[in-house]
Amino acid sequence: MRYREKLLGPGEERLVRYTSSIRDDQAIAGEVLEVLKAHVAHLAERKLIPRGSAARIIRLLEEARKDTGLVLREGYEDVHEAVEAYLEERLGLEAGWAALGRSRNDHVAAALRLRARRLLLDLLASILGLRKTLLSKAEQHMADVIPAHTHFQPAQPTTLAHYLLSVEEALADSWRHIHSTLVDVVDKSPLGSGAAVGTTVPLDRARLSQLLGFREPVVNTLYASSSRLFLFAAASAAYTAMLVVSRFAEDMVLWSHPSLGYVELPPAHLSTSSLMPHKRNPVTMEVLRARAVELLGDLLALAGIEAGLPSGYSLDLQEASRHAWRVLSETIEAVSVVEDLVKGLQATGRGVEEAGRLPLSSPDLAERLSVEKGVPYREAHRTVASMIAEGLGPDAIAKRLGLEAPLTPRESVESKNVLGAPAPGRVEEALRVAWERVRTDEKGFAETLEAYARGEEELGRLVAWVKGGAGGDNGDTQVPEA
Ligand code: ARG
Repeated sequence: MRYREKLLGPGEERLVRYTSSIRDDQAIAGEVLEVLKAHVAHLAERKLIPRGSAARIIRLLEEARKDTGLVLREGYEDVHEAVEAYLEERLGLEAGWAALGRSRNDHVAAALRLRARRLLLDLLASILGLRKTLLSKAEQHMADVIPAHTHFQPAQPTTLAHYLLSVEEALADSWRHIHSTLVDVVDKSPLGSGAAVGTTVPLDRARLSQLLGFREPVVNTLYASSSRLFLFAAASAAYTAMLVVSRFAEDMVLWSHPSLGYVELPPAHLSTSSLMPHKRNPVTMEVLRARAVELLGDLLALAGIEAGLPSGYSLDLQEASRHAWRVLSETIEAVSVVEDLVKGLQATGRGVEEAGRLPLSSPDLAERLSVEKGVPYREAHRTVASMIAEGLGPDAIAKRLGLEAPLTPRESVESKNVLGAPAPGRVEEALRVAWERVRTDEKGFAETLEAYARGEEELGRLVAWVKGGAGGDNGDTQVPEA
């Protein structure tokens, strides 16, 4: 039986299909069943519904969990209505106990939070993988000098290791932002909020939260049942990783261009032309760049749906989630594609040639002139600039100024000895710090996983109690005396 039938009649198929979320609900069917199971088990432990009925409902929910095709049927408003129809077809009126004390509004929010939690965990794991790959790669390329750019003009010599460390540190910031968004914003239970203002049914919201392994309940029932702020927070936090890898993709496209050629990309990431037999096109990075922009459309949709809504649930919110899933799953994929590329990335040696060909040590000369000869830096800068304008190279400038300045690209790199700069000792130091940060984050990740596992165990124990013992599955349909 569908919700609308008694009040509004059967409706029109075309319009039911227009407003139905059943196809999008594929993404959360498993979570919806899990949430309902926890709710029904809790109703039984609070002696609000017959334990035997709860056991029978839970068995059916578990069957549907194994084959979600049983509940993802067309013709319903959404998976929640379809699940109730599935239960009613098998248990008749007894199935109606599952509807006590809940609304689709609090249940869908709980399912979405569980789904977002899983995707964020996958993303965190894949970012950790990429960070470790970047660090290992940096260890192999500490001596590979390349020009660093500003304004995409060759600026000063650095090393491939120093560059890879810059990507890793950005991803470390992204990782921590995503992890804290997961723990502090997403990982909260809206269950027991009802449609907007809770319920007269004496549910224990903290217990419901615990049964699904949430960290704590969302306190306010109106907020809990009517907002997708957590989805926007999750997607926008995830997008920080997309920002990092899409800039990296752009560097790979440019640096592998034959006119620069600092790096060679692994062949699996290239494709050739149907017409031009010499072409080596960096296609994975091109697609990644485009997807990064496409996801901005999803973020905009997600924020836009929430932005103008009056308080309380509106069906607009149903349209928000697919955008969040796209951002999260595309970002996971992009991170793993980049990890694969980094593993096969090779330095060509052309970076150091390029750095040597250009007067990239000119800032070093000006700085030495200032520090060693007591010339105010602005004046030293002018002096060196005029000599470059005259057409002098670094050697000639150093000679004329009487300086023992670093001249080769490698000497220039060695002379950059402040924290986080490319001097070999500083890169070694940065690598130690970065590996330590990875280990700390791995520990945080494991602790987060353990907390979720504890929730699963708790629900498992309760469900075993519901199914077992007197009243478990003995046909009992009476509500026990409280
Ligand atoms: N399918 C809806 C969603 O995904 C949940 C149902 C809420 N519907 C309602 N009429 N209150 O958000």
